[in-house]
Amino acid sequence: MNEIKNKTVLSGVQPTGGLHIGNYLGAIKNFVSMQNNYNCFFCIVDLHAITVKQDPKILKKNTLEVAATYIASGIDPKKSVIFNQSSVPAHSELAWIFNCVTRMGWLSRMTQFKDKAGKDKENASSGLFIYPNLMAADILIYKATHVPVGNDQKQHLELTRDIAQKFNRDFDCEDFFPIPEPIIDKEISRIMSLKSGDQKMSKSDLSDYSRISLLDESDEIIKKIKKAKTADTVMPEKIEEIMKLNEVNNLLNIYSGFSGISKQKLIEQYKGQNFSNFKSDLSDILVDRMKPITTEIKKLMQDKNYLLKILLEGQNKANEVAQNTINDVHDIVGLLRNET
Ligand code: ADP
Ligand code: TRP
Repeated sequence: MNEIKNKTVLSGVQPTGGLHIGNYLGAIKNFVSMQNNYNCFFCIVDLHAITVKQDPKILKKNTLEVAATYIASGIDPKKSVIFNQSSVPAHSELAWIFNCVTRMGWLSRMTQFKDKAGKDKENASSGLFIYPNLMAADILIYKATHVPVGNDQKQHLELTRDIAQKFNRDFDCEDFFPIPEPIIDKEISRIMSLKSGDQKMSKSDLSDYSRISLLDESDEIIKKIKKAKTADTVMPEKIEEIMKLNEVNNLLNIYSGFSGISKQKLIEQYKGQNFSNFKSDLSDILVDRMKPITTEIKKLMQDKNYLLKILLEGQNKANEVAQNTINDVHDIVGLLRNET
Protein backbone atom coordinates (compact mmCIF):
# COMPACT_ATOMS: atom_id res chain seq x y z
CA MET A 1 0.00 0.00 0.00
CA ASN A 2 1.20 3.50 -0.79
CA GLU A 3 2.93 4.95 2.27
CA ILE A 4 2.58 8.53 1.00
CA LYS A 5 -1.17 8.34 1.37
CA ASN A 6 -1.89 8.76 5.05
CA LYS A 7 -5.61 9.19 4.71
CA THR A 8 -7.78 6.14 4.84
CA VAL A 9 -11.26 5.65 3.43
CA LEU A 10 -13.71 2.97 4.43
CA SER A 11 -17.25 2.55 3.23
CA GLY A 12 -19.72 -0.27 2.90
CA VAL A 13 -22.82 -1.37 1.05
CA GLN A 14 -25.26 -4.02 2.25
CA PRO A 15 -25.72 -7.08 0.02
CA THR A 16 -29.48 -6.81 0.19
CA GLY A 17 -30.02 -6.96 -3.58
CA GLY A 18 -31.03 -4.62 -6.33
CA LEU A 19 -28.59 -1.75 -5.97
CA HIS A 20 -30.01 1.39 -7.55
CA ILE A 21 -28.83 4.73 -8.90
CA GLY A 22 -29.23 6.23 -5.39
CA ASN A 23 -26.57 3.84 -4.08
CA TYR A 24 -24.45 4.64 -7.14
CA LEU A 25 -24.68 8.45 -7.05
CA GLY A 26 -24.80 8.76 -3.26
CA ALA A 27 -21.98 6.35 -2.48
CA ILE A 28 -20.25 4.17 -5.08
CA LYS A 29 -19.43 6.98 -7.55
CA ASN A 30 -17.59 8.79 -4.75
CA PHE A 31 -15.67 5.64 -3.81
CA VAL A 32 -14.27 5.53 -7.34
CA SER A 33 -13.14 9.15 -7.25
CA MET A 34 -11.32 8.70 -3.92
CA GLN A 35 -9.23 5.68 -4.74
CA ASN A 36 -6.28 7.58 -6.22
CA ASN A 37 -5.73 9.80 -3.21
CA TYR A 38 -6.58 7.61 -0.24
CA ASN A 39 -5.90 4.12 1.09
CA CYS A 40 -9.31 2.66 0.35
CA PHE A 41 -11.25 -0.19 1.92
CA PHE A 42 -14.60 -1.03 0.35
CA CYS A 43 -16.59 -3.54 2.27
CA ILE A 44 -19.68 -5.60 1.51
CA VAL A 45 -21.43 -5.53 4.85
CA ASP A 46 -23.02 -8.98 5.02
CA LEU A 47 -23.22 -8.94 8.84
CA HIS A 48 -25.29 -5.78 8.65
CA ALA A 49 -27.58 -7.43 6.09
CA ILE A 50 -28.52 -10.25 8.51
CA THR A 51 -29.90 -7.81 11.07
CA VAL A 52 -33.09 -8.44 9.10
CA LYS A 53 -34.09 -11.80 7.65
CA GLN A 54 -32.19 -12.93 4.55
CA ASP A 55 -32.40 -16.02 2.40
CA PRO A 56 -28.93 -17.64 2.85
CA LYS A 57 -28.50 -18.60 -0.83
CA ILE A 58 -29.60 -15.22 -2.10
CA LEU A 59 -27.36 -13.46 0.43
CA LYS A 60 -24.30 -15.19 -1.04
CA LYS A 61 -25.34 -14.25 -4.58
CA ASN A 62 -26.03 -10.65 -3.52
CA THR A 63 -22.60 -10.45 -1.89
CA LEU A 64 -20.96 -11.37 -5.20
CA GLU A 65 -23.26 -8.91 -6.97
CA VAL A 66 -22.06 -5.99 -4.82
CA ALA A 67 -18.45 -7.04 -5.51
CA ALA A 68 -19.27 -7.10 -9.24
CA THR A 69 -20.96 -3.68 -8.95
CA TYR A 70 -17.95 -2.16 -7.21
CA ILE A 71 -15.61 -3.41 -9.93
CA ALA A 72 -17.96 -2.58 -12.81
CA SER A 73 -18.37 0.97 -11.45
CA GLY A 74 -14.63 1.54 -11.60
CA ILE A 75 -13.22 0.42 -8.26
CA ASP A 76 -9.89 -1.11 -9.15
CA PRO A 77 -8.98 -4.11 -6.97
CA LYS A 78 -5.32 -3.22 -7.49
CA LYS A 79 -5.83 0.18 -5.88
CA SER A 80 -8.56 -0.56 -3.34
CA VAL A 81 -9.23 -3.38 -0.92
CA ILE A 82 -12.57 -5.08 -1.70
CA PHE A 83 -13.82 -7.69 0.78
CA ASN A 84 -16.83 -8.94 2.68
CA GLN A 85 -17.17 -7.92 6.29
CA SER A 86 -17.69 -11.40 7.77
CA SER A 87 -14.34 -12.59 6.34
CA VAL A 88 -12.51 -10.23 8.71
CA PRO A 89 -13.44 -11.35 12.26
CA ALA A 90 -11.88 -8.30 13.90
CA HIS A 91 -14.92 -6.21 12.81
CA SER A 92 -17.18 -8.27 15.08
CA GLU A 93 -14.63 -8.34 17.89
CA LEU A 94 -14.28 -4.56 17.92
CA ALA A 95 -18.06 -4.21 17.64
CA TRP A 96 -18.43 -6.15 20.90
CA ILE A 97 -16.05 -3.79 22.63
CA PHE A 98 -18.02 -0.83 21.24
CA ASN A 99 -21.22 -2.45 22.59
CA CYS A 100 -19.63 -1.80 25.96
CA VAL A 101 -18.66 1.81 25.11
CA THR A 102 -21.83 3.09 23.44
CA ARG A 103 -24.64 4.24 25.71
CA MET A 104 -28.18 2.85 25.29
CA GLY A 105 -29.44 6.42 25.05
CA TRP A 106 -27.24 7.10 22.03
CA LEU A 107 -28.54 4.05 20.18
CA SER A 108 -32.15 4.75 21.01
CA ARG A 109 -31.92 8.07 19.15
CA MET A 110 -30.96 6.42 15.84
CA THR A 111 -33.65 7.13 13.26
CA GLN A 112 -32.67 4.24 10.98
CA PHE A 113 -33.49 1.78 13.79
CA LYS A 114 -36.85 3.46 14.28
CA ASP A 115 -37.56 3.31 10.52
CA LYS A 116 -36.44 -0.28 10.06
CA ALA A 117 -38.00 -1.68 13.25
CA GLY A 118 -41.28 0.04 12.41
CA LYS A 119 -44.16 -0.27 14.84
CA ASP A 120 -43.17 -3.68 16.18
CA LYS A 121 -39.96 -2.80 18.04
CA GLU A 122 -40.29 -5.78 20.41
CA ASN A 123 -39.88 -8.05 17.44
CA ALA A 124 -36.83 -6.37 15.90
CA SER A 125 -33.53 -8.25 16.24
CA SER A 126 -31.14 -6.97 18.89
CA GLY A 127 -28.59 -6.85 16.04
CA LEU A 128 -30.66 -4.14 14.38
CA PHE A 129 -30.44 -2.05 17.55
CA ILE A 130 -26.65 -2.35 17.93
CA TYR A 131 -26.08 -2.13 14.15
CA PRO A 132 -24.36 1.30 14.44
CA ASN A 133 -21.70 -0.16 16.78
CA LEU A 134 -20.71 -2.64 14.09
CA MET A 135 -20.64 0.18 11.56
CA ALA A 136 -18.33 2.17 13.85
CA ALA A 137 -16.12 -0.93 14.15
CA ASP A 138 -15.99 -1.29 10.33
CA ILE A 139 -14.65 2.24 10.11
CA LEU A 140 -12.37 2.43 13.14
CA ILE A 141 -10.73 -0.99 12.78
CA TYR A 142 -8.89 0.58 9.78
CA LYS A 143 -8.53 3.92 11.58
CA ALA A 144 -10.37 5.42 8.60
CA THR A 145 -10.27 9.21 8.41
CA HIS A 146 -12.91 9.65 5.67
CA VAL A 147 -16.21 7.88 5.03
CA PRO A 148 -18.13 8.53 1.78
CA VAL A 149 -21.84 7.80 2.36
CA GLY A 150 -25.31 8.98 1.46
CA ASN A 151 -27.10 11.48 3.66
CA ASP A 152 -29.11 8.77 5.44
CA GLN A 153 -25.92 7.59 7.17
CA LYS A 154 -24.99 10.97 8.64
CA GLN A 155 -26.37 10.15 12.07
CA HIS A 156 -24.46 6.84 12.21
CA LEU A 157 -21.29 8.70 11.34
CA GLU A 158 -21.87 11.16 14.16
CA LEU A 159 -22.30 8.22 16.52
CA THR A 160 -19.04 6.71 15.21
CA ARG A 161 -17.28 9.97 16.05
CA ASP A 162 -18.78 9.91 19.56
CA ILE A 163 -17.67 6.30 20.07
CA ALA A 164 -14.10 7.09 18.91
CA GLN A 165 -13.94 10.07 21.28
CA LYS A 166 -15.36 8.18 24.24
CA PHE A 167 -13.03 5.21 23.71
CA ASN A 168 -9.98 7.49 23.47
CA ARG A 169 -11.08 9.33 26.62
CA ASP A 170 -12.21 6.31 28.70
CA PHE A 171 -9.01 4.42 28.07
CA ASP A 172 -6.76 7.44 28.20
CA CYS A 173 -5.36 6.84 24.73
CA GLU A 174 -5.73 10.21 23.05
CA ASP A 175 -5.66 9.99 19.22
CA PHE A 176 -5.75 6.18 19.17
CA PHE A 177 -8.84 6.26 17.00
CA PRO A 178 -9.10 9.15 14.52
CA ILE A 179 -12.36 11.09 14.45
CA PRO A 180 -13.61 10.20 10.95
CA GLU A 181 -15.09 12.78 8.56
CA PRO A 182 -18.20 11.95 6.56
CA ILE A 183 -17.94 12.72 2.84
CA ILE A 184 -21.46 13.57 1.77
CA ASP A 185 -22.22 15.22 -1.56
CA LYS A 186 -24.78 17.92 -0.81
CA GLU A 187 -26.87 17.66 -3.98
CA ILE A 188 -26.91 13.94 -4.74
CA SER A 189 -26.56 12.34 -1.35
CA ARG A 190 -30.28 11.71 -1.16
CA ILE A 191 -31.78 10.52 -4.41
CA MET A 192 -35.53 10.34 -3.99
CA SER A 193 -38.10 7.84 -5.26
CA LEU A 194 -39.31 8.44 -8.84
CA LYS A 195 -42.87 8.18 -7.55
CA SER A 196 -42.64 10.53 -4.61
CA GLY A 197 -40.11 13.27 -3.99
CA ASP A 198 -40.61 12.88 -0.23
CA GLN A 199 -39.25 9.34 0.06
CA LYS A 200 -35.72 8.20 -0.58
CA MET A 201 -35.07 5.83 -3.44
CA SER A 202 -34.76 2.49 -1.70
CA LYS A 203 -34.17 -1.19 -2.39
CA SER A 204 -37.12 -2.05 -0.22
CA ASP A 205 -39.81 0.12 -1.91
CA LEU A 206 -42.54 -2.21 -3.11
CA SER A 207 -42.84 -0.45 -6.46
CA ASP A 208 -40.20 -1.18 -9.06
CA TYR A 209 -41.15 2.12 -10.73
CA SER A 210 -39.81 4.03 -7.72
CA ARG A 211 -36.17 3.27 -8.57
CA ILE A 212 -33.76 2.60 -11.41
CA SER A 213 -31.76 -0.51 -10.67
CA LEU A 214 -28.17 -0.83 -11.84
CA LEU A 215 -29.29 -3.99 -13.64
CA ASP A 216 -32.19 -2.35 -15.54
CA GLU A 217 -32.10 -2.68 -19.33
CA SER A 218 -32.33 0.44 -21.50
CA ASP A 219 -36.03 -0.01 -22.30
CA GLU A 220 -36.88 -0.28 -18.60
CA ILE A 221 -34.96 2.92 -17.85
CA ILE A 222 -36.80 4.77 -20.60
CA LYS A 223 -40.18 3.49 -19.37
CA LYS A 224 -39.44 4.42 -15.75
CA ILE A 225 -38.31 7.96 -16.60
CA LYS A 226 -41.37 8.43 -18.82
CA LYS A 227 -43.60 7.46 -15.88
CA ALA A 228 -41.62 9.44 -13.27
CA LYS A 229 -43.62 12.11 -11.48
CA THR A 230 -42.85 15.76 -12.41
CA ALA A 231 -45.18 18.77 -12.01
CA ASP A 232 -48.19 20.32 -13.71
CA THR A 233 -46.16 23.41 -14.62
CA VAL A 234 -43.29 23.98 -17.05
CA MET A 235 -39.64 23.88 -15.89
CA PRO A 236 -39.29 26.97 -13.66
CA GLU A 237 -36.32 29.26 -14.21
CA LYS A 238 -35.57 30.07 -10.58
CA ILE A 239 -33.83 27.54 -8.36
CA GLU A 240 -36.06 28.59 -5.41
CA GLU A 241 -39.11 27.53 -7.45
CA ILE A 242 -37.49 24.25 -8.39
CA MET A 243 -36.69 23.48 -4.77
CA LYS A 244 -40.42 23.52 -4.07
CA LEU A 245 -41.00 20.82 -6.72
CA ASN A 246 -39.32 17.82 -5.05
CA GLU A 247 -39.78 15.41 -7.95
CA VAL A 248 -38.41 17.85 -10.54
CA ASN A 249 -35.49 18.76 -8.29
CA ASN A 250 -34.72 15.06 -7.87
CA LEU A 251 -34.69 14.40 -11.63
CA LEU A 252 -32.39 17.40 -12.08
CA ASN A 253 -30.05 15.99 -9.42
CA ILE A 254 -29.99 12.64 -11.21
CA TYR A 255 -29.33 14.36 -14.56
CA SER A 256 -26.57 16.47 -13.08
CA GLY A 257 -25.04 13.50 -11.19
CA PHE A 258 -24.74 11.39 -14.33
CA SER A 259 -23.85 14.11 -16.85
CA GLY A 260 -21.60 16.32 -14.73
CA ILE A 261 -23.56 19.36 -16.04
CA SER A 262 -24.45 21.79 -13.25
CA LYS A 263 -28.06 22.12 -12.21
CA GLN A 264 -27.95 25.81 -13.07
CA LYS A 265 -26.94 25.02 -16.66
CA LEU A 266 -29.68 22.39 -16.97
CA ILE A 267 -32.27 24.86 -15.74
CA GLU A 268 -31.09 27.41 -18.34
CA GLN A 269 -31.46 24.76 -21.02
CA TYR A 270 -34.96 23.53 -20.12
CA LYS A 271 -36.66 26.55 -18.49
CA GLY A 272 -40.13 27.33 -19.76
CA GLN A 273 -40.49 23.96 -21.51
CA ASN A 274 -42.77 21.10 -20.57
CA PHE A 275 -40.91 18.05 -19.28
CA SER A 276 -40.98 15.77 -22.32
CA ASN A 277 -37.67 16.92 -23.91
CA PHE A 278 -36.03 17.00 -20.52
CA LYS A 279 -37.17 13.45 -19.75
CA SER A 280 -36.09 12.10 -23.10
CA ASP A 281 -32.60 13.68 -22.75
CA LEU A 282 -32.35 12.36 -19.18
CA SER A 283 -33.18 8.83 -20.39
CA ASP A 284 -30.48 9.13 -23.07
CA ILE A 285 -27.88 10.15 -20.50
CA LEU A 286 -28.89 7.39 -18.09
CA VAL A 287 -28.84 4.70 -20.78
CA ASP A 288 -25.49 5.94 -22.06
CA ARG A 289 -23.80 6.09 -18.63
CA MET A 290 -25.36 2.97 -17.16
CA LYS A 291 -25.05 0.57 -20.07
CA PRO A 292 -21.30 -0.13 -19.66
CA ILE A 293 -21.76 -0.65 -15.90
CA THR A 294 -24.81 -2.90 -16.27
CA THR A 295 -23.11 -4.98 -18.98
CA GLU A 296 -19.97 -5.36 -16.89
CA ILE A 297 -21.89 -6.39 -13.74
CA LYS A 298 -23.70 -9.09 -15.73
CA LYS A 299 -20.43 -10.27 -17.28
CA LEU A 300 -18.62 -10.40 -13.93
CA MET A 301 -21.51 -12.35 -12.38
CA GLN A 302 -20.73 -15.11 -14.88
CA ASP A 303 -17.19 -15.36 -13.50
CA LYS A 304 -17.71 -16.34 -9.89
CA ASN A 305 -14.13 -17.60 -9.49
CA TYR A 306 -12.71 -14.23 -10.44
CA LEU A 307 -14.95 -12.46 -7.91
CA LEU A 308 -14.03 -14.96 -5.20
CA LYS A 309 -10.34 -14.42 -5.94
CA ILE A 310 -10.71 -10.63 -5.59
CA LEU A 311 -12.59 -11.06 -2.30
CA LEU A 312 -9.93 -13.43 -0.97
CA GLU A 313 -7.12 -11.02 -1.84
CA GLY A 314 -9.09 -8.22 -0.20
CA GLN A 315 -9.78 -10.29 2.89
CA ASN A 316 -6.05 -11.04 3.33
CA LYS A 317 -5.07 -7.38 3.03
CA ALA A 318 -7.89 -6.22 5.31
CA ASN A 319 -7.15 -8.87 7.93
CA GLU A 320 -3.56 -7.75 8.20
CA VAL A 321 -4.53 -4.16 9.12
CA ALA A 322 -7.54 -5.12 11.23
CA GLN A 323 -5.62 -7.67 13.28
CA ASN A 324 -3.04 -5.06 14.26
CA THR A 325 -5.72 -2.71 15.50
CA ILE A 326 -7.59 -5.36 17.47
CA ASN A 327 -4.34 -6.51 19.14
CA ASP A 328 -3.71 -2.94 20.27
CA VAL A 329 -7.33 -2.58 21.43
CA HIS A 330 -7.08 -5.75 23.53
CA ASP A 331 -3.99 -4.37 25.16
CA ILE A 332 -5.59 -0.95 25.81
CA VAL A 333 -8.77 -2.47 27.24
CA GLY A 334 -6.89 -4.96 29.43
CA LEU A 335 -7.79 -8.24 27.75
CA LEU A 336 -5.09 -10.76 28.54
CA ARG A 337 -3.35 -12.33 25.57
CA ASN A 338 -0.88 -15.17 25.90
CA GLU A 339 1.76 -14.35 23.32
CA THR A 340 3.66 -17.38 22.12
P1 ADP B 1 -30.08 0.98 1.07
O1 ADP B 1 -30.16 2.14 2.02
O2 ADP B 1 -30.59 1.26 -0.30
O3 ADP B 1 -30.56 -0.32 1.67
P2 ADP B 1 -27.34 0.54 1.74
O4 ADP B 1 -27.81 0.62 3.13
O5 ADP B 1 -26.56 -0.65 1.38
O6 ADP B 1 -28.57 0.69 0.79
O7 ADP B 1 -26.56 1.85 1.34
C1 ADP B 1 -25.38 1.89 0.60
C2 ADP B 1 -24.95 3.31 0.41
O8 ADP B 1 -25.86 3.98 -0.48
C3 ADP B 1 -24.93 4.14 1.71
O9 ADP B 1 -23.81 5.01 1.68
C4 ADP B 1 -26.21 4.93 1.62
O10 ADP B 1 -26.11 6.16 2.33
C5 ADP B 1 -26.32 5.19 0.13
N1 ADP B 1 -27.71 5.40 -0.29
C6 ADP B 1 -28.75 4.54 -0.11
N2 ADP B 1 -29.89 5.05 -0.63
C7 ADP B 1 -29.57 6.26 -1.16
C8 ADP B 1 -30.32 7.28 -1.84
N3 ADP B 1 -31.61 7.14 -2.10
N4 ADP B 1 -29.66 8.38 -2.23
C9 ADP B 1 -28.33 8.53 -2.00
N5 ADP B 1 -27.58 7.62 -1.36
C10 ADP B 1 -28.17 6.48 -0.94
N1 TRP C 1 -25.02 1.35 7.42
C1 TRP C 1 -24.66 1.57 6.04
C2 TRP C 1 -25.96 1.64 5.20
O1 TRP C 1 -26.98 1.16 5.61
C3 TRP C 1 -23.77 0.49 5.51
C4 TRP C 1 -22.48 0.45 6.25
C5 TRP C 1 -22.09 -0.51 7.15
C6 TRP C 1 -21.44 1.40 6.17
N2 TRP C 1 -20.85 -0.23 7.61
C7 TRP C 1 -20.42 0.92 7.06
C8 TRP C 1 -21.26 2.58 5.47
C9 TRP C 1 -19.25 1.62 7.25
C10 TRP C 1 -20.08 3.28 5.67
C11 TRP C 1 -19.07 2.81 6.55
O2 TRP C 1 -25.91 2.16 4.14
